[in-house]
Amino acid sequence: MDEYTNFIFDLKKRLDIDLTGYKRPQMERRINSLMRTLSIKDYDSFVSSMKQDGKLLERFIDHLTINVSEFFRNTQQWEVLDKKIIPMLLEKTPNLNIWSAGCSTGEEPYTLAMVLAEKIPKGKHSIIATDFDDLVLKKAIAGLYKPKVVSGIPAPYLKKYFNDVEGEYQANDALKSLITFKHHNLLRDAYPSQMDLIICRNVVIYFTEETKSMMYKKMFDSLKPGGVLFTGSTEQIFQARDIGFESSAVFFYRKPL
Ligand SMILES: C[S@@+](CC[C@H](N)C(=O)[O-])C[C@H]1O[C@@H](n2cnc3c(N)ncnc32)[C@H](O)[C@@H]1O
Repeated sequence: MDEYTNFIFDLKKRLDIDLTGYKRPQMERRINSLMRTLSIKDYDSFVSSMKQDGKLLERFIDHLTINVSEFFRNTQQWEVLDKKIIPMLLEKTPNLNIWSAGCSTGEEPYTLAMVLAEKIPKGKHSIIATDFDDLVLKKAIAGLYKPKVVSGIPAPYLKKYFNDVEGEYQANDALKSLITFKHHNLLRDAYPSQMDLIICRNVVIYFTEETKSMMYKKMFDSLKPGGVLFTGSTEQIFQARDIGFESSAVFFYRKPL
């Protein structure tokens, strides 16, 4: 067994972190760069240090994947969601169950919450937003963003849903109350069920093909009949038909009724 494989094995055994579903080259590069930054000389002492130091473990998880997000990321697809997909879902049920999986610092679920609040101001939807990185989840819950980050939010929405806090912008309580943030690891935790819409965008880039396919199958099972999975702008699901999805629009996959 080579050193990296041994490290992955050790992580699972001693820290209960399973990186077997991630593509090796990217993971190895990111892990090695963090070890260099922290002047940690070998995998063994890295695992031992993380076992003793919860903050280091948190930093390790935070470093594994890129957390970049944006409000209204790929605006055209949010238009399709707003104009076509949400009205279609609302024909079946007035209150939608929605899951933003891999929500990072919150831009995606806050975007969704604004879109829904505009459409149905008194709607009683459930939005859960999850990530396996507790550091990004803390930021998402705080909902505080720099002016540059909120530049993608239309001005009337910014005024209505955010407070100016010393030059930064914070999601107001009304907007925050629409979302429940939770820790969830897509590779090991049970998936929520009875979803009308799952948004999982720009999360699977690090996963092996086998892991992606397992994850999409589980998401299919999580959806109600007629429910829709919204993926990222470079994330076509090649085995969509085999899983059972039909296409609703580009990057929107529907579980048949
Ligand atoms: C690039 S961000 C995407 C954020 C947002 N969905 C978007 O498109 O703007 C990827 C997120 O996936 C999360 N992630 C990676 N592996 C995960 C896993 N196994 N379980 C849950 N979240 C994971 C990372 O922590 C990161 O916050």
